[in-house]
Amino acid sequence: MNRADLNKKTSDIASMFDQVAERYDLMNGLMSGGQHLRWRRHTVKAVEASAGQRILDIAAGTGTSSVPFADAGADVVAADLSEGMLAVGRRRRPDITFVQADVTNLPFEDNEFDAVTMSYGLRNVADYPKALRELYRVTKPGGRIVVLEFSTPTIKAFRPLYKNYILKAIPPVARAASSNPESYEYLAESIMTWPSQDQLAQSFSEAGWQDIQYRNLTGGIVAIHRGFKPSALSNY
Ligand SMILES: C[S@@+](CC[C@H](N)C(=O)[O-])C[C@H]1O[C@@H](n2cnc3c(N)ncnc32)[C@H](O)[C@@H]1O
Repeated sequence: MNRADLNKKTSDIASMFDQVAERYDLMNGLMSGGQHLRWRRHTVKAVEASAGQRILDIAAGTGTSSVPFADAGADVVAADLSEGMLAVGRRRRPDITFVQADVTNLPFEDNEFDAVTMSYGLRNVADYPKALRELYRVTKPGGRIVVLEFSTPTIKAFRPLYKNYILKAIPPVARAASSNPESYEYLAESIMTWPSQDQLAQSFSEAGWQDIQYRNLTGGIVAIHRGFKPSALSNY
């Protein structure tokens, strides 16, 4: 098995990420031209983690997205499906708690986390509405969700150029630098078929999240969605 397909079977996804784990962070830098560092900074800001808060970084992979929360003094749990990605993370940051978990069936109690966050993970989940409901369950009332994901460029005229970049430029870079180039064909296909910003916001709302807002970065190449779990549920 080299790559997952758009059925996004959990075992295929896990095995695909196991295979790219060692060179995963290097590939991120190469493909985004360094833009990903800025995207990550905005995501960290939206999470507003502070010392003592309990944060779930789900689909944490090698832990790159979890590090800023740990460094801010938060109690971060870095959870992921892929044991290969987790192994790289544990080696790099033995101080962070890494846990094997599927976002659609989390091994956590209700109302456990001040914030839940997911960077480049949700697109890989076939039943992503279920993931949004499960993340809602483990978030404390008043807590927040922040999701960073590839999205739809806002300028229509730019979309064909972007599609060309995704489908034609990424695979050669992957062939040169990745341990599993075929997996980057999946990356391209999954980006092109992912819901738009508004459609995703609608799924957040259907899962119970409120006050949902999104912010486009680099013209909508990625978007950060943020929402809140209501602090007190009324009886009406
Ligand atoms: C592109 S990586 C992102 C890693 C990290 N968040 C980052 O920002 O670099 C996507 C991760 O999602 C994980 N993943 C995919 N489906 C998942 C699921 N159902 N539950 C938990 N993690 C999942 C994969 O194993 C992979 O490590």
